[in-house]
Amino acid sequence: MMKYAPVVLAAGKGTRMRSTVPKVLHPLAGLPMMAHVLQALDEIPHTTAFALLQDALAGAKLLVVVGYGAEEIERAFGDRCSYAVQEAQLGTGHAVMAARRAIDAQESAPEIVLVCYGDTPLISSEVLARLLVEHVERRATVTFLTAITEPPSDFGRIVRGNNGQAREIVEMKRATREQKLIKEVNSGVYCFERAWLWSALEMLPQNPAGEYYLTDLVKIASEQGRTVATVTGSFSETIGINDRVQLAEAEQIMRWRVLERLMYAGVTIIDPATTYIDAQVEIGEDSVILPGTMITGKTRIGSFCRIGPATTIDNSVLGDRCVVRNSALEGAILEEGVSMGPFSHCRPGAHLARNVRMGNFGEVKNSYVGPETDMHHFSYLGDATVGEGVNIGAGTITVNYDGVRKNPTTIGDGASIGSDTMLVAPVTVGEHATTGAGAVVTRDVPAWSIVAGVPARVLRMKEPPASSQDEGEKKE
Ligand code: UD1
Ligand code: CA
Repeated sequence: MMKYAPVVLAAGKGTRMRSTVPKVLHPLAGLPMMAHVLQALDEIPHTTAFALLQDALAGAKLLVVVGYGAEEIERAFGDRCSYAVQEAQLGTGHAVMAARRAIDAQESAPEIVLVCYGDTPLISSEVLARLLVEHVERRATVTFLTAITEPPSDFGRIVRGNNGQAREIVEMKRATREQKLIKEVNSGVYCFERAWLWSALEMLPQNPAGEYYLTDLVKIASEQGRTVATVTGSFSETIGINDRVQLAEAEQIMRWRVLERLMYAGVTIIDPATTYIDAQVEIGEDSVILPGTMITGKTRIGSFCRIGPATTIDNSVLGDRCVVRNSALEGAILEEGVSMGPFSHCRPGAHLARNVRMGNFGEVKNSYVGPETDMHHFSYLGDATVGEGVNIGAGTITVNYDGVRKNPTTIGDGASIGSDTMLVAPVTVGEHATTGAGAVVTRDVPAWSIVAGVPARVLRMKEPPASSQDEGEKKE
């Protein structure tokens, strides 16, 4: 079985981004851009093209060459890959030299080195597999990916010889006027025969800026009369991100891919032009996403939901049949059948159980709200545990902060909280208790009692209905 070693170059600072954040960590569809490259590399063995090589070729562990911001990058990707350090950033050729030791140290040294750049996040696993297939079938020394685009662009230009074989990649800085008009450009993905690669890297010329260009290997191979093969992919996969304009272009392409995947999987997206969904988001069949909606992070949404318009959902989990209109959720859980909005906000730790109805201008933070509970208008629940079938009247507030500490509020099953009740925490409202309109509850409220006033006092006790006593007896 032959092996290929996938190497991703990510040591550059990304000067043209004008950022302190290493370029490959800038997010695209909610993930650092290099995560998309790593994912494409991971998926090579599952592609259609790779089927031809299934029994002949296997991938070694991902290796990333880091330099600028190395610690940040290693923190972001952890042991998903191993790392080689390029101490000074002397060009893409120099970066591959930095990977040599780690590659040669592998148990059975790989025959092929597959090099990608960490700033080309739109690359697909399918085209990477095609490149490997071409490389193996042609028994090439170098095989690289090209694309066709209209000038002007800042990609390296492909110069071909009379026999049609790629003879040289000319970087824009060094290109003649004629060469600048060449439409075939370098996408920045290469397969190299490993043994040849190390010797050829030592022959790389240093350019006037003191850099070693990986692209110059094509000229070296071709002058040695070796086989240089190419695969031409679609230009949209090629886009390298050097500045924030290209970042926005790539985001647009990536966003469309995500929406397309969801639509093919049975999600209706009414207006793709105004819908923003991150790459990791999952949405179930027959859910409908309305215009102006942004769904980010690791959000999971069930089936038959109706989300939007004008809604943002971040890192939240929604069950089936939820309806969320003009609202914002972050770090929240909505169980099946919850309806929310318009204009409500679930903050981290909000957990609305089955069929909760949270209407307009509500906020829930770090609270559990039991099944079938209603909270229709202008209420705030913070650090609260609310039971089943509770009615929260308009304007109810958990007064959870005493200036020093956040205090808990507990509301029992079947309680009825009158409009404008202030629940001064820590406080417990017993099961089936009722608070009157405008009550300021400073002490615990007994189950089945009615309290009112400022501060709230017990007016009288309620007679639990016979049926609920029966139920109680049955349980015993
Ligand atoms: C490169 C190619 C160009 C191609 C384009 C495609 C070279 C010389 N040119 O140009 O032909 O059309 O990509 O996107 O390769 N890096 C390091 N160490 C370094 C320098 C760069 O690890 O010392 C990494 C960067 O972090 C980056 C990648 O290599 O992820 C590419 O470098 P970049 O400077 O963006 O190359 P381009 O100018 O885009
Ligand atoms: Ca680049």
